[in-house]
Amino acid sequence: MKKLKFQNGDTLPILGLGTWKSKPGEVYTAVREAIKIGYRHIDCAAVYNNEAEIGQAFEDAMKAGDVKREDLRITSKLWNTSHRKHQVQPALEKTLSDLRLDYLDLYLIHWPVAMKENAPFPYRAEDMISLEEIPVEETWEVMEACQTKGLARHIGVSNFSISKLKKLVSSAKQKPEMNQIELQPLLQQNDMLEYCGSENIHLTAYSPLGSRDRSANFKDPNEPDLFENEVIVKIAERHNCSPAQILIAWAIARGTAVIPKSVNPKRLQQNFDAANIELTGDDMSDIARLDKGFRFITGSFWAVEGSPYSLESLWG
Ligand code: A2P
Repeated sequence: MKKLKFQNGDTLPILGLGTWKSKPGEVYTAVREAIKIGYRHIDCAAVYNNEAEIGQAFEDAMKAGDVKREDLRITSKLWNTSHRKHQVQPALEKTLSDLRLDYLDLYLIHWPVAMKENAPFPYRAEDMISLEEIPVEETWEVMEACQTKGLARHIGVSNFSISKLKKLVSSAKQKPEMNQIELQPLLQQNDMLEYCGSENIHLTAYSPLGSRDRSANFKDPNEPDLFENEVIVKIAERHNCSPAQILIAWAIARGTAVIPKSVNPKRLQQNFDAANIELTGDDMSDIARLDKGFRFITGSFWAVEGSPYSLESLWG
């Protein structure tokens, strides 16, 4: 399997397992199964509310001899309610304790959005704190300190626009090494790919399959279905594989890490096997034409009326 390389030579397998929406009661088996299949990169986050169960799976997999800690690459993310300086390290330590680890391979600021401690879901305007009040740069200073202390080998961000990355890069002692964003054929973000390439910032593609299992609150009932996209279906027929596999192979061909979520053993295997599919130049140019800047994850939950965030300020 292809690997991304960080500045210090550490590597990250390009295909990882996504765990957003993997339910308690399902995620333990999914992680154990994924490790048996050969997944060595697992993407987690505090807000997914399943890290304790994933931690149990890691511990049991290591005890059973399925994998060694040093062969795993584990990512987690700082939630919006812990952006104040004094909150960052305790949040990371809670994640480490839930995941039963002494260090993370990669720790990301989940969103460039700050919120009050314990803000309940669904989020209200009065739960939001503006970036003027808690600038991302302040949160980042503690991310850097956590890295220096060895709590996270690498640090980065998620859902950052180019302009937010540029601002952070200009003030950071340690540049972010990763931006995890939505990337799929309808949202190719080529300018982001180019900018991050020029700054040695890696990209991870989330929702590579269109995240059909997210809750109806976050979903437009008429949104497109990537699995039924004619171009994707035709390419899948040519390669005698599934549309999901083409979507994964496409992300890998662009040099981005990709973290399809599944809790189903057959689909976990199928997704893992997609790392061996080589798309042709024609396949890539056919898919290139599908780009239309369409987001499945719009970020509209931060832009509720009265919030200091708008979609323009988020993505612009
Ligand atoms: P399941 O977990 O039952 O396999 P995303 O990674 O974009 O968030 O998409 C996750 C959704 O895609 C989940 O509903 C997941 O269901 C489904 N999925 C994952 N892998 C495949 C696959 N190979 N074929 C079809 N659906 C898949």
